[in-house]
Amino acid sequence: MDRHGEHARAAAGLLRTLLASPFPLIEGYLNVINPLSSFLGMFSHDIAIDLGTANTLVSVRGRGIVIDEPSVVAIDRVTKRVLAIGVEAKRMVGRTPASIIAVRPLRDGVISDFATTEKMLQYFIRSVHERFGMGVGKPRVVVGIPSGATEVEKRAVHDAAVAAGARSAYLIEEPMAAAIGAGLPVMDAAGSMCVDIGGGTTEVAVIALGGIVRSQSARAAGDAMDSAIMDYARQVHNLLIGERTAEQLKITAGSAFPLDDEVSADLRGRDLATGLPKSVEVSTVEVRDALSPVVNEIVRTVRATIETTPPELVADLMMHGIAMTGGGSLLRGLDRKVAMETRFPVYVGEDPLRCVVRGCADALEETETLQKVQSAVASRRPPR
Ligand SMILES: Nc1ncnc2c1ncn2[C@@H]1O[C@H](COP(=O)(O)OP(=O)(O)OP(=O)(O)O)[C@@H](O)[C@H]1O
Ligand SMILES: [Mg+2]
Repeated sequence: MDRHGEHARAAAGLLRTLLASPFPLIEGYLNVINPLSSFLGMFSHDIAIDLGTANTLVSVRGRGIVIDEPSVVAIDRVTKRVLAIGVEAKRMVGRTPASIIAVRPLRDGVISDFATTEKMLQYFIRSVHERFGMGVGKPRVVVGIPSGATEVEKRAVHDAAVAAGARSAYLIEEPMAAAIGAGLPVMDAAGSMCVDIGGGTTEVAVIALGGIVRSQSARAAGDAMDSAIMDYARQVHNLLIGERTAEQLKITAGSAFPLDDEVSADLRGRDLATGLPKSVEVSTVEVRDALSPVVNEIVRTVRATIETTPPELVADLMMHGIAMTGGGSLLRGLDRKVAMETRFPVYVGEDPLRCVVRGCADALEETETLQKVQSAVASRRPPR
């Protein structure tokens, strides 16, 4: 079974439990609340949600993007108290004393730690509430879902949103949302391709006439790049570095294609032999080498999607090119690398980290598009 399947199934199971409970607001000792429920209650305006592995974004109709924070929560290991959320919690990753843990509740692409996700959403809601006040009435809601979600999983997310107070809930597959957000003509008969490289996954989709014609997803994305840098530091320099340090190096010195001026950067960590702090100099060439297995996997996924695309659409793609979205698309030279390996023109969408939420929000504005691009949920409830 593919990865999305497993995690979406876990999330769906939890959602079903919550929905089946006669007292959905009080679930045992932990007081687990359906996160969507507490969330939607705060809004009267239509909302679009991108619950990403790395970042959570929420757009409220008429107000624009009101939440854009890392999906990270810092928790006291003993008391279970939440100490920090979002930007502040992300700063703590890898720096926390033994008594504090920094959690990424969506690490695996779909809600994998439900209770913590709920705490995170509640915090974000409060901050929106403080800024804009509370509304009345029922919102329409659009949620971006991974393209691998099954019927059962989609129905669970849809039902949860409705049970939580949405007037109507629409699901849009993430690469479709990203394509809309990147401004691709998704309703045209001519094909477009979007490659969304997030924290957890790279999702590739060929889109025509408002539907996904071909899609593939791979676990090669931002997190895998960070891990590749950590492995490299350990294996080549005997240096132990944290996730945040690896991500920083990726952003400042990472690339996928030779740079005009290759430079060096300092990498600080702990010497595995002595246990003492150590700093080594690494060149952008070395960092590119370290990242190459992940980059190659992204290229393979794009090529594999192209290989199964009907020839007429391939001709369209040659003309219009491939749009890249998601934070991972900001890796320097990745567009050139993908262009070289596929022989298609490739470009990075505007403000790529916000394409999915922007696409969901744009779809809310156009009922016809929304009806067409939504990932339809079967009308009959599947057997339990
Ligand atoms: N300039 C940059 N260069 C390289 N990578 C970057 C850059 N800026 C952000 N990233 C990476 O982008 C990733 C986050 O992207 P994004 O917010 O699109 O992911 P997400 O939507 O939360 O994840 P997913 O779609 O997998 O659930 C992180 O791994 C981050 O390190
Ligand atoms: Mg994403």
